[in-house]
Amino acid sequence: MALLRSKSSLLWFLIVVVTAHVSEAAETPKQKTTLSQDEVVWVSEDDSFSFRSKKPSSMNVAALPEPGDLAAALRVPTLDGEFIYQPGAVKGSLVIHAFTNKSGFLECMWSSESSLSSLVQDLPDSTQVLFVSLDDSAVSDALWMRGQLQRAAMHSKKEVLSRLHFSPVPVFSLGNWIPSILYYWSCMGHNCGLSQAVFTSEGWKMPVIIKRLDARYDWLMGRWTQKLYQLIDAGNGCDPSPSVAGAVAWVSEGNCSFFTKVQNMAKSNASGVLVYALPGNPIQDMNCVREECYTQLNIPAAMVHLEPSVAQALRFGQLVNVSFQITPSPSFFIGIDQQGALAEMGWFLYPSFSFVNWQAQWFDFYADLWTKLQSPAKVVSVFDKVQMHGDKGAVATVDLPLGSADFNTLELDASLSCPDRRDGSCAQWDHTVQLFVCCDHLSPYCNMELGRWITAFRRGIGRWLTDVSPLLPLLDGNKCTFTMKTVPWAMPWIVSLNLRFSLSNQTGNHGVDKLHPFRVTSLYSGGTFDKNYNKQYQPIKFSIPASTKKVELYSVITGHGSDEYGCGEFCVTSHHFLINSVHNNTLTFDTAGTALGCAMRVKEGAVPNEHGTWLYGRGGWCDGLQVNPWRVDITKQLDSSGFDSNTVVYFGLFDGKDPNPSQQPGNIIMSSFLVFYK
Ligand SMILES: *[C@@H]1O[C@H](CO)[C@@H](O)[C@H](O)[C@H]1NC(C)=O
Ligand SMILES: *[C@@H]1O[C@H](CO)[C@@H](O)[C@H](O)[C@H]1NC(C)=O
Ligand SMILES: *[C@@H]1O[C@H](CO)[C@@H](O)[C@H](O)[C@H]1NC(C)=O
Ligand SMILES: *[C@@H]1O[C@H](CO)[C@@H](O)[C@H](O)[C@H]1NC(C)=O
Ligand SMILES: *[C@@H]1O[C@H](CO)[C@@H](O)[C@H](O)[C@H]1NC(C)=O
Ligand SMILES: *[C@@H]1O[C@H](CO)[C@@H](O)[C@H](O)[C@H]1NC(C)=O
Repeated sequence: MALLRSKSSLLWFLIVVVTAHVSEAAETPKQKTTLSQDEVVWVSEDDSFSFRSKKPSSMNVAALPEPGDLAAALRVPTLDGEFIYQPGAVKGSLVIHAFTNKSGFLECMWSSESSLSSLVQDLPDSTQVLFVSLDDSAVSDALWMRGQLQRAAMHSKKEVLSRLHFSPVPVFSLGNWIPSILYYWSCMGHNCGLSQAVFTSEGWKMPVIIKRLDARYDWLMGRWTQKLYQLIDAGNGCDPSPSVAGAVAWVSEGNCSFFTKVQNMAKSNASGVLVYALPGNPIQDMNCVREECYTQLNIPAAMVHLEPSVAQALRFGQLVNVSFQITPSPSFFIGIDQQGALAEMGWFLYPSFSFVNWQAQWFDFYADLWTKLQSPAKVVSVFDKVQMHGDKGAVATVDLPLGSADFNTLELDASLSCPDRRDGSCAQWDHTVQLFVCCDHLSPYCNMELGRWITAFRRGIGRWLTDVSPLLPLLDGNKCTFTMKTVPWAMPWIVSLNLRFSLSNQTGNHGVDKLHPFRVTSLYSGGTFDKNYNKQYQPIKFSIPASTKKVELYSVITGHGSDEYGCGEFCVTSHHFLINSVHNNTLTFDTAGTALGCAMRVKEGAVPNEHGTWLYGRGGWCDGLQVNPWRVDITKQLDSSGFDSNTVVYFGLFDGKDPNPSQQPGNIIMSSFLVFYK
């Protein structure tokens, strides 16, 4: 796709001929582009660029690309020559980042050592990044950005630098499709929009408006309101200052932690805190550290540069007011996945290039998934972009054109997208999605759970392949009804679901034997995770059917809700299936509540950069991910000698003990089975 040509001239092309022909046969993972014209041409017209079709009759076609459309070719002058993106030419993904120093968020992202080093150390090998600037200062911005990353790469692998391209041409002069998409996809909040503080004072003709960076999202509960606050100097904020009551405290950085400053000002009844950077220092990402993070503070805080006119007015005892605004900006990021489709990059919850890495990891995951989906299988479409909403959810009855006995592998290829093509149209909240199947109303297997996922916070890119082969016996008829649903109050999702049947080797003890699951026994389901939780579970006796070669324990367990210990979503619970009183098969959710427990799982398909706290580890699940079935081969734990000669019992613990919350107990959602193979 992207080639770097050695050409030092900054000459570039005002007219780029773009071939956006998209054949119907071309397999793209997402929606096909709406640009069905044979050719389109970018033409310069007095600094504005319009999208012209050679076929005037198709002018009513939506002119600007949406996420999921194929990216057209691109050439951009760079400090080293020219960056060329040619669809289909090179494997890998591309991230385009437009910098502006008008954003405190971006200034911090480009100044913080941890942010810069995350890019040079963890950018996936398949990803290239093109850096451009939105401003007149594009030449010095490009040199500065390159310098920042060269410095960060000094002590690590330098190979990454060959995949980073810096353009000295400002976005407003690029003359290709980058500016139009950046402006068309504009957004507000977190990684885009310009957060600002607006100061007024009696002696001034004009307000003074400067950029700000609000404290990290999950630390302070307070939010700026629309009102006009008085600004009061409170020194370095390392001691309480009664004079700030009802006002915004103006506080210098240093001498004590950000937390201490904000806590002191909160104790002094300030309405908010502005911490200014000492001269020459960049704006920092104000966060709590270690045990500080256990104390919740309830006022808003932001970091700004030291504005001399504000400092002077305060020094001379002049009244200064401050208010807070966010001015919309063009988008700062565009992604192009490995299939060449344009993609939004989601929310960056704090100023770090880690979010670029996570999105790029997801592009890798998606390319890999795409390859897996090309492998041979009998595919049965259940839902094809069907709305899932309300009590009913999405329901379809399909014929299974099987001999299902001919297959031993069943994978669910599921995706959740949004009513329109932007993430902004997606449902905000994370909810459990369950798939139930019934092939025979009289069967004990009717309406058992076949799959489980958790929706992403407001992102529509999720697609997952889940191996549910052990549950093949649930498909005990030729016509099966599938119901996929979430809570009835969730906003709608658009679901697609394919069943993929295939015959493959079990990765069992015997290497190449093709075992088939032929029977399942449903065991336990979950419930309220309180002191009575384990009282509901009685041992179940079972025999091993004749000709059984292998027995597996299969369960899907997720913890939800929040008691005083954060259970079951954010506490470490363990789940035990005790076989024959001695074999303690244990599943522990040990990343629940960790800061990056789910960010670590982007490589497995967890949707990155969601509009919520998707990063934290959770009780057996992540936002925007399938719930992986937990499978244990228990054949060797069993006694095959007689009728009901085995027992199993389940119990769930918090901290190695029965749960015992005093308020708002959480709950465990569980399905569990014994699976018999022959
Ligand atoms: C960004 O803005 C800050 C404050 O205005 C300034 O100190 C800094 O030098 C600027 N950085 C660049 C790269 O222009
Ligand atoms: C500051 O705010 C106060 C109270 O809202 C208002 O009375 C005053 O006129 C404001 N002064 C300036 C300079 O904005
Ligand atoms: C606060 O920090 C500044 C800059 O590091 C230093 O110059 C000053 O002496 C410190 N003040 C106190 C009271 O510690
Ligand atoms: C803050 O407000 C509370 C409640 O109004 C009051 O009791 C307390 O004295 C105030 N503290 C200061 C430092 O003004
Ligand atoms: C099963 O595994 C064997 C050995 O690993 C391999 O040669 C064979 O191709 C596999 N068959 C299928 C259907 O995957
Ligand atoms: C099973 O293991 C867990 C954790 O290792 C332990 O707390 C529990 O007591 C064990 N139960 C039995 C019956 O061995």
